Amino acid sequence: MSKIATLEIDGNKYEFPIIEGTEKELGIDIKTLRGATGGVTTIDPGYKNTGSCESGITFLDGEKGILRYRGYSIEELAEKADFLEVAYLLIFGELPTKVELEKFDSDIKEESHVDEDMKKILDGFPKSAHPMGVLSSLTSALIAFNPGSVDVDSEEEMYNAIVKILAKFPVLAAWTMRKRKSLPLDYGDNSLGYVENLHKMMFARPNKAYEPNKLVYDALDKLLILHADHEQNCSTSTVRIVGSSHAGLFASLSAGMSALWGPLHGGANQAVIEMLEAIKADGGDTAKYIAKAKDKSDPFRLMGFGHRVYKNFDPRANIIKKSAEEVLGDLGIEDPVLDIAKGLAKVALEDEYFVKRKLYPNVDFYSGIIYRALGIPTEMFTVMFALGRLPGWIAQWKEMRLRKEPIGRPRQIYVGENYRPFVKVENR
Ligand code: ACO
Repeated sequence: MSKIATLEIDGNKYEFPIIEGTEKELGIDIKTLRGATGGVTTIDPGYKNTGSCESGITFLDGEKGILRYRGYSIEELAEKADFLEVAYLLIFGELPTKVELEKFDSDIKEESHVDEDMKKILDGFPKSAHPMGVLSSLTSALIAFNPGSVDVDSEEEMYNAIVKILAKFPVLAAWTMRKRKSLPLDYGDNSLGYVENLHKMMFARPNKAYEPNKLVYDALDKLLILHADHEQNCSTSTVRIVGSSHAGLFASLSAGMSALWGPLHGGANQAVIEMLEAIKADGGDTAKYIAKAKDKSDPFRLMGFGHRVYKNFDPRANIIKKSAEEVLGDLGIEDPVLDIAKGLAKVALEDEYFVKRKLYPNVDFYSGIIYRALGIPTEMFTVMFALGRLPGWIAQWKEMRLRKEPIGRPRQIYVGENYRPFVKVENR
């Protein structure tokens, strides 16, 4: 029997259906609330208790530390799948057959050229510009060069727009990094796989033979998979809400990138390394920084700690911690910053402040350490996150469009002035 929630306001009772997800999550369906009650609304800043959609893409249970894409566990995907397979899974709902994967791969390669005029736009940015701002702008600029990607009504048009952005985005990401380093811009090598090609585009030097490294590719592949989707987080909700106005895929993604840039979201991976570096430079006194994080009069927060949803552990952090140790070991790198990170995590995990508030290391606490070991500059860390999150954003945008979701438009409770008559400037 279906469950019902009853709401009582001033003695009047209203009933609302309770919907149940496939993992038995319950949600009170308040679609009729305002109509039934004559305009009563809900208030939930930060949407901590609000479900914005029904989605069949990613399931996560923050209490149990479960993360699954389309039903497959993140642990299994990180170990057994490659990034392009995971992208296909997220976007189209099923793991691809060999034939489907080959077609997907070749369709992406077919679109990997970026209009030469895009280089002029990139040229206009100062070298010091943050890569996330540059990338968000370039993604938006791509619309002008691919106007057909905006009005996508058929699944075929949608597919074409999806393949285009999956192909061009790594080129743009590599260009943002190369520009900062004054390296020539190129288009990579279509004979390579998606991740290998990305790496080559980022690191190939004009005067030096490029050396493939399977260890590096595997680590990168894993990092991208771990970041590929995370249901209705800040950037994904942004992508869905911008897309709900039918602004187009690239515009929605560009907005999502701006949301990801913030240090409370994807920008945390850069902030973590900067924090660990600062602790190292300050003599490595982790206790001092734990005390600062606990001090309410100090704005300092332990970056890479805490998560809106995970309140026991972040399963991605567990995978990535192990991976960080392996990658550093295999590459023969000794990074004192990893020791500081481990020391900080140990103290915090035993400290009452962090235990009581269920604050644990999140995915970003260790990801920066691997990026560093792979030679990726700190300011590119959030770009790496965006490269991983791209298929998730696309899948969520596609789901929103195919479900014909209404334009996103939250309500508010107005707490400003009541009506007051206008006073002419000379009388104020
Ligand atoms: N360091 C110190 N205290 C913290 C931290 C932290 N990193 N995170 C939360 N707290 C404290 C808050 O001060 C608050 O304390 P109070 O109850 O005494 O007021 C309590 O824990 C709850 O914190 P909220 O900010 O309400 O939790 P919320 O769910 O809104 O925020 C967030 C989650 C933004 C991730 C937060 O934990 C944070 O700022 N962490 C650091 C930034 C970070 O690592 N972001 C990456 C997130 S993962 C990702 O985007 C991929």
